[in-house]
Amino acid sequence: MGDLCDLLGIEHPIVLGPFGGLSSVALTAAVSNAGGLGSYGLYGYDADRIHRTAAELRAATGGPFALNLWLPTGTERDATPQEFAASLAVLAPYFAELGLPLPEAPSRYLPTLDEQWEAVLRERPAVVSVVFGVPPEAMLAQAHEAGIVVIGTATTVDEAVTLENGGVDAVVASGFEAAGHRTSFLDAAEESLVGSFALIPQVADAVRIPVIAAGGVADSRGVAAAFALGASGVQVGTAFLRTRQSAANDAHRAAISASRAHDTVLTRAMSGRPARGAANRAVREIESAGVIAPFPAQNWLTGRFRPEAGARGIGELQSLWLGQAAGLAGFEDADELLAELVRGVPGAPAMP
Ligand SMILES: Cc1cc2nc3c(=O)[nH]c(=O)nc-3n(C[C@H](O)[C@H](O)[C@H](O)COP(=O)(O)O)c2cc1C
Repeated sequence: MGDLCDLLGIEHPIVLGPFGGLSSVALTAAVSNAGGLGSYGLYGYDADRIHRTAAELRAATGGPFALNLWLPTGTERDATPQEFAASLAVLAPYFAELGLPLPEAPSRYLPTLDEQWEAVLRERPAVVSVVFGVPPEAMLAQAHEAGIVVIGTATTVDEAVTLENGGVDAVVASGFEAAGHRTSFLDAAEESLVGSFALIPQVADAVRIPVIAAGGVADSRGVAAAFALGASGVQVGTAFLRTRQSAANDAHRAAISASRAHDTVLTRAMSGRPARGAANRAVREIESAGVIAPFPAQNWLTGRFRPEAGARGIGELQSLWLGQAAGLAGFEDADELLAELVRGVPGAPAMP
């Protein structure tokens, strides 16, 4: 346990999960200020936005924090004009319902990893966490030279071993209970669905680097179980997303509160890649239309109407990512949630 806290320079082995598109400086800073590791998801951020975000984080916390990047898998591709039009035809009623014009295809869907990494490296966060693969050798070497700890994310034992062999310093073992995208990179996500109870001990047996358990942990019982299974820390998403410091809007919070353990689905409908969330109207209708543009085009397309739906409190037209433990996510304050999670850490001193 001490090994992970020492490695990350933190007091409690509790990591706030990064939320691509939905991280907030307030929540990241709250967790870092309370002795955990706050993470901030940089999905889709260009260099300017990365620099601005890092400055805001530094102003809000003197503690270490993690910046999170999605690595390219080689499966990303632009939608053909036909694919773009076909998906837009399915989504058009949502644009009409929200009074939004139909978008034209952009010149690019996402910033490149090189652009993002150059900005992250200049910011020198204490930790960089990645999903969807092993960081390129040069990136790892530059990170280590700059004193940045690198955390990889595995959905299977094989991925954890591949990440360790690739040189990362710690690994998140992400069970299929977790909210958001399944970040598998060796086999298809649908063929890499391992629950946390099976995944954590097998990853802990297979690697020497510290294992951080993610997926289904929302209270001190989950933390204690993760440690009993061999984890050195936990990464918690859904339960933190429910707190007032998060960037989730009211409809998203309400969906977390209302969700029962069997309510979530894995769907490509909103982004083109499988992710766990609520089966709202958009998910049901897009799934039944069966027309989904490839990633990242589908994510970009739904991203043209989701913010407006969020602003109007319409949960049925958002990406309501949430995990199977949503029913345990009862805390409205991140500090109180962190204190509850710390109670599950073996040998942790009582928090005030
Ligand atoms: C809205 C949302 C966005 C997420 N985006 C990312 C991301 O960009 N990168 C990442 O590593 N994990 C991402 N995750 C996963 C979380 O960081 C975390 O690992 C996961 O939520 C843990 O499982 P739990 O929800 O059961 O606690 C996301 C989760 C949510 C809810």
